[in-house]
Amino acid sequence: MRIIKKKNYDEVSRAAAEIIASQVKLVPDSVLGLATGSTPIGAYKELVRQCKDGILDFSAETSVNLYEYYGLEGSNNQSYRYFMDTNLFNHINIDMAKTNVPSGTAENADAECQRYEELISELGGTDLQLLGLGHNGHIGFNEPSDEFVVSTHVVGLSESTIEANKRFFESADDVPKKAITMGIGTIMKSKLVLLVVSGAEKADILKKALFGPVTPMVQASILQLHPNLVVVTDCEI
Ligand code: F6R
Repeated sequence: MRIIKKKNYDEVSRAAAEIIASQVKLVPDSVLGLATGSTPIGAYKELVRQCKDGILDFSAETSVNLYEYYGLEGSNNQSYRYFMDTNLFNHINIDMAKTNVPSGTAENADAECQRYEELISELGGTDLQLLGLGHNGHIGFNEPSDEFVVSTHVVGLSESTIEANKRFFESADDVPKKAITMGIGTIMKSKLVLLVVSGAEKADILKKALFGPVTPMVQASILQLHPNLVVVTDCEI
């Protein structure tokens, strides 16, 4: 485990972007596991800047994202496909056909999980898996549980997550109740895991994840067993 301490979010974002940029430069046909949420936005902005400045070339890269709401079209401005397109893919020279997000409109959700897991396997797994950390220690949509689920699977969203998401939708009925997420095994197969955590409010959960017991009640704690974990954070831990 390598912990890179930074003073603030901007420094965290630049450091995370440099690690991803190094992967892109060193292995031009990398498979990049990407994340959504607020944390990666600063790093994505820096990657866009480097691509526009001709420093980075994403043309041979492939990406796979951690999850998607089940029941939303990719064109819906609340979908994670939309988030990735607007925050990164539309601004870099990646081949859009090589950007992968689980389908939120697949007729059979379980079949989509199997397809996605097989896709990642056929790609040879991810070379770098970017992760944020949820306030309850979730990674992807792997929430506190009595087990670590291995493969890509359908999750029911917690009441608190649905409640928190309501503000983005016309009505509560429009809030997705399920998501398709990479499993813990999918994540752990990555050659390198880059966990990016910013904000004093996440210090306690980050300490539990990195130094507490390995338990499915703190899903990120499994990362202690990963052979190539890099943590970039401005938290006091
Ligand atoms: C996003 C993801 C989630 C977020 C986590 C933290 O693709 O996998 O696990 O990383 O919810 O979100 P932020 O960064 O908004 O605090």
